Amino acid sequence: MNNVRIAGVGHYLPNQVWTNHDLEKKIDTTDAWIFSKTGIRQRHIADPSEATSDLALYASLNAIKNAGLHAEDIDLIVLATSSPDMIQPSTAAILQGKLGAVNAAAFDVGAVCAGFVYALVTATGMMRAFDQYKNVLVVGAETYSRILNWQDRTTSVFFGDGAGAVVLTRSKEPGYMGHYLMNDGLGWDVIKFPAGGSRIPASKSSLEDGLHAFQMDGKKVWDFAIKAMPQAVRAAAKDAGCEVSAIDFVVPHQANINIIQRSMKELGLPMEKTYPTIEHTANTSGASIPIALSFACQNGKVKQGDLVAFVGFGGGLSWGSAIFRWTK
Ligand SMILES: CC(C)(COP(=O)(O)OP(=O)(O)OC[C@H]1O[C@@H](n2cnc3c(N)ncnc32)[C@H](O)[C@@H]1OP(=O)(O)O)[C@@H](O)C(=O)NCCC(=O)NCCS
Repeated sequence: MNNVRIAGVGHYLPNQVWTNHDLEKKIDTTDAWIFSKTGIRQRHIADPSEATSDLALYASLNAIKNAGLHAEDIDLIVLATSSPDMIQPSTAAILQGKLGAVNAAAFDVGAVCAGFVYALVTATGMMRAFDQYKNVLVVGAETYSRILNWQDRTTSVFFGDGAGAVVLTRSKEPGYMGHYLMNDGLGWDVIKFPAGGSRIPASKSSLEDGLHAFQMDGKKVWDFAIKAMPQAVRAAAKDAGCEVSAIDFVVPHQANINIIQRSMKELGLPMEKTYPTIEHTANTSGASIPIALSFACQNGKVKQGDLVAFVGFGGGLSWGSAIFRWTK
């Protein structure tokens, strides 16, 4: 098996920012409610001229540069999104064209907010198994502002737009240590965005009827997430052959600060071992983990030799964790 490490990290957040106070003017909500329930103060919103693939492009350029590589060096692009440019082709395919990654295969992974962890594990597995994948770009990119019904305050206030990316390369020492992925399809309707293949009849107004917008049962998500996040980290640590207490840094999905705090406590890990970005970015679904990693790296929170656990959970219901030794 080939060893795989993370060699480059990057992110992109659109320029436009909507604060909770901006939302107070549009819908029946308050900054106090949103902040106390989620830890969110603001979210970035993509410009109408920016597609999910554009956000992915800017994050990818940063990650490839950070790895000291060029787009032509990339052999494979694995992109996690649940707000793709189109149902078909894949957003990874569109990104590949925009990047000029002329030597790369490309495909999307759909596991909603756990998508980045699924993509990271998929890419790592392909690199470990097959010699032809030497430099792989793993991206999370989302424009939830396009799939939300902004009038539905029980979902809209949680989300924002953004993209993050990592470049995986071969290494002498193990970077990748272990992982855990799981799904509970009986909970498929807790988080959903119906598409052309669903049984729901087409409607004249696409998003406003509430059927053709993103939908979430927040309380059911809470019950699921507070169990899934610690369980995934414990299972990944077991697979990696380490104790949870040996983990130096956790990069969790940025869904809700209260879920992060509760899960870190449950794992017996202090909050100093994570670096939340949710206050500034809100929940960027499949993009939140690489964005949070990028901010942590920029702020010197991840050190050479650290054991880093990535953990995601969301629609599916899907969840998972991957553990890497930081050897960047
Ligand atoms: C949704 C969630 C915040 C609800 O928290 P809670 O403490 O159970 O909520 P409460 O019962 O105190 O509050 C619900 C009330 O707030 C109201 N409310 C909902 N959204 C609101 C908003 N944006 N602003 C103001 N009030 C809001 C509801 O209408 C409800 O009112 P009611 O009691 O009169 O019916 C919580 O369950 C949660 O964080 N879930 C996880 C969601 C998540 O992270 N999703 C990401 C998916 S990856």
